[in-house]
Amino acid sequence: MRDPAVTAFFAEHPRFRLAALGHAANFASLELSPLGIPAQPRDAAREPALVARYHQANAARFGGPLALPGWVLVDLYLMPGAISLVLDGEEIVAAWCGVPTVTPGVVMGVSLLSLREGIGAAYVAKRCGVAMFRAAVQRGITQWDSASLRSHTRLGPLRVVGPAPAAHGEAARSFVYECAISASQSAPSRWMDPADGPAMAARAAGGESVWVVAPGAAGGRVALRVGAQRE
Ligand SMILES: CC(C)(COP(=O)(O)OP(=O)(O)OC[C@H]1O[C@@H](n2cnc3c(N)ncnc32)[C@H](O)[C@@H]1OP(=O)(O)O)[C@@H](O)C(=O)NCCC(=O)NCCS
Repeated sequence: MRDPAVTAFFAEHPRFRLAALGHAANFASLELSPLGIPAQPRDAAREPALVARYHQANAARFGGPLALPGWVLVDLYLMPGAISLVLDGEEIVAAWCGVPTVTPGVVMGVSLLSLREGIGAAYVAKRCGVAMFRAAVQRGITQWDSASLRSHTRLGPLRVVGPAPAAHGEAARSFVYECAISASQSAPSRWMDPADGPAMAARAAGGESVWVVAPGAAGGRVALRVGAQRE
């Protein structure tokens, strides 16, 4: 399987490479040619400089309550999962971390980031990362007022599961979603003020069908489809 946007991205940026950073024993279980793009396996135990660069990149893009402790990076990102990296030489362009869940076929996506916004690199890191896990569904937590909704919805509509557990540092602004990769897109049925997101997440948790659909967000509003998702 190929993704024309991913293929075009690497053609447009011939110096960029894809890499999978993580625990070496996991590499045999990863797809290291996701969407036809070769991914360099990079063993975290042997790559302290690259791990440190990733940690710095994460710190540059996530601060305050979302700051990533070193032990979480090691124990919960690198050991069970893998970080999909778009690299320019050894410089990190964009990254996305996948962590397997106990639900078959579902990967948890964490810490989407780009250090070169506006070129599509974050989408590529995430799309290739999900393919590395051969996942049909990606679960994640994001914020109602985040520009990342535009990147996330490029993979498919986000089914809103409900509010994030309260211990999350940004729970009040956040929601849990699941995205079935390559699902067909629907047009928005309404545009919502992000401030109304928590009420909408509560409705979803109560059983209502709520989706964040492409383009995700525009003009400070969130693109929603409430009710059945059109096939
Ligand atoms: C969220 C974040 C990763 C998004 O970065 P980004 O560069 O806007 O996202 P993408 O890589 O998907 O690129 C998409 C943008 O590049 C543009 N672009 C240019 N060429 C492109 C291409 N070939 N393919 C796709 N997009 C392209 C798109 O037009 C798009 O901009 P738009 O949404 O205004 O239309 C970045 O803002 C970030 O690091 N934020 C801080 C961390 C954060 O909050 N992460 C989210 C956690 S849930």
